[in-house]
Amino acid sequence: MNATVIGAQLGDEGKGSVVDLFGETVDVVVRYQGGTNAGHTVVHHGEEYKLRLIPSGVIRGKTGVLGNGCVVDLEILFNEISELRRRGLDPDVRVSDRAHVVLPYHRVLDRAEETAKNDDSLAVGTTGNGIGPAYEDKAGRRGIRIGDVLNESALRRRLQYTVLQKRRLAQAVFGIDTGAEFDTEHLIDTLRDFGERLKREEMVVDTGTYLTEKDRDGATILFESAQGTHIDVEHGNYPFVTSSNPTVGGAITGTGVSPTLVTDGRIIGVVKAYLSRVGKGPLPTELDDESASEVREKVGGFGTVTGRPRRIGWLDLPMLRHAARVNGFTGIVLNHVDALGGLNELRVCETYKLDGETVTGLPSTTDAWARCTPEYRTFDSWPDQDWSKLQNEGYDSLPESARTYIEYVSAELGLPVYAVGIGPARTETIVLQHPLDS
Ligand code: IMP
Repeated sequence: MNATVIGAQLGDEGKGSVVDLFGETVDVVVRYQGGTNAGHTVVHHGEEYKLRLIPSGVIRGKTGVLGNGCVVDLEILFNEISELRRRGLDPDVRVSDRAHVVLPYHRVLDRAEETAKNDDSLAVGTTGNGIGPAYEDKAGRRGIRIGDVLNESALRRRLQYTVLQKRRLAQAVFGIDTGAEFDTEHLIDTLRDFGERLKREEMVVDTGTYLTEKDRDGATILFESAQGTHIDVEHGNYPFVTSSNPTVGGAITGTGVSPTLVTDGRIIGVVKAYLSRVGKGPLPTELDDESASEVREKVGGFGTVTGRPRRIGWLDLPMLRHAARVNGFTGIVLNHVDALGGLNELRVCETYKLDGETVTGLPSTTDAWARCTPEYRTFDSWPDQDWSKLQNEGYDSLPESARTYIEYVSAELGLPVYAVGIGPARTETIVLQHPLDS
């Protein structure tokens, strides 16, 4: 049976440790969307690994695949591979020939557009990694795919058209003095080296065929989403979203496998016991600065990729109901329960009040979401403690008030809890029901 791991909120739910934990018994870990905007932290043998592109299962010796739905910054991909080798690992990474490439001009244009949207209500707060512009080019049929990087004449033809257009855009619209990032020959030279390395290391595959064959041969595949449901370009709070589909449909379109390879398996929703957001956009349960800093202090609440302080909010059930429906979760992992230990007050948003009506789900427009007022239920908090002591003692060793909180969330969503996270390492997770034990 295969499994898909999806963030139920706004990213940073701790998917990396879930993939790491449940990925132990799988053979292949596949990322199906996004690029270097992601940041996964995995602790293995006491060592911390921070990855932005390579699927985290690679650290445990799994094959890591970047599906066609990803946008790949080849420079960072090869840097990550080299760094893992330097630390004594032997990463097996495959990349779809249909995946699009993030080029230096995408990064420049991403930042330029954010600056141009100076008005706070328009800026998205992107990670500045060129993700949006790369997906724009994909949809605009002027993108460069991994397959093009392997074919210099096709690459030259495509870049000559695109780079000219990008240079004019950068100069005329954003007033940028364009440099090497917008120089076709320079880009070809760089990409030629990357292309040779991709070939030499036999990294390029047709992921649909590759994964289907693996599945037929009895391999277990874990589909790993980056970011989260509420920053999905379709189902998130547009326009404060990333440009891809972290939701379950992305696992199908972003890899080229039959839907049943995904839907016949487990779909694991990763939920953080509170909310955080690194970018802009509404957050109805957002805490005021003082309370937020209390939580932030405890969880080191700064973005892995951007280093920006995360905005903090109470757990929001309407968001989770939306995520459970869109993704068809078969169960959840509730992470960061330790982070709420020792707080003075603990709340969960059960429903919203929107224009005088009670709402249980998520309004489709961001404007309406911003007008929602949370209706809270208050919970007894639990004491802070040495959580590492509890990790081998099982679910019943958790404070009763923490179990009440966890069981309430599970009942509200009508979903079983696969595991509870009480710390960053995979050993700091209490498994209640392993999703891959049928
Ligand atoms: P982009 O993906 O860099 O274009 O950024 C678009 C929005 O998604 C911004 O609000 C980012 O802060 C947010 N975002 C992108 N990647 C992540 C992530 O991995 N975790 C949390 N938020 C993210």
